[in-house]
Amino acid sequence: MKFFVDTAEINEIAELNDLGMVDGVTTNPSLIMKSGRNILEVTKEICGIVSGPVSAEVVATEADDMIAEGRKLAKIADNIAVKVPLTWAGLKACKVLSGEGNMVNVTLCFSANQALLAAKAGATFISPFIGRLDDVNIDGMELIADIRQIYDNYGFETQILAASIRTVNHITDAARIGADVITAPPSVIKKLADHPLTDAGLAQFLKDWEKTGQKIL
Ligand code: E4P
Repeated sequence: MKFFVDTAEINEIAELNDLGMVDGVTTNPSLIMKSGRNILEVTKEICGIVSGPVSAEVVATEADDMIAEGRKLAKIADNIAVKVPLTWAGLKACKVLSGEGNMVNVTLCFSANQALLAAKAGATFISPFIGRLDDVNIDGMELIADIRQIYDNYGFETQILAASIRTVNHITDAARIGADVITAPPSVIKKLADHPLTDAGLAQFLKDWEKTGQKIL
């Protein structure tokens, strides 16, 4: 499973990237707003750190404008994935931009039928939003399972990018189902290493080691 990090914060990306935990990055207009940075500048900087796909999202709502924005974003670096929303205009932009050889991430997916359309439009990635579905009492993970089954039934190569991940359990469940990629905030990725028994075990080992009076170095 590939790990994308869902942020536009350079320091957080660099820290996880140094550990080999970053296979790509996703951003969106809200994350760019939070970073306080210019989209073109910060995206270029991210692409200089991470060699995998870096999603940069269009903000136009008409297909022709999305295509023009997508072409501009794609020029930032070779590893840009142009992110378009799952609307008919977005699907049209996906078809054109992917036909021109760009990676395209179709975002804001909330149903299996939407995911089917994205695959047919040539999407490289489909981004179903788990957390936002859970927020409205719909099982987000069920959507990941449905898309996995549908894509496998027909051999679609579009990668399932499980997004809007809020908990470490979302990552376990997405991995079990076979999502190709997860994108999560750095804080959630860091929590994957936590376990109270690891902490307790380490504390006991250190206490006992202290009693031996030995040193390794
Ligand atoms: C994915 O590409 C989105 O940027 C992100 O996962 C949305 O997450 P949120 O619902 O926590 O804002």
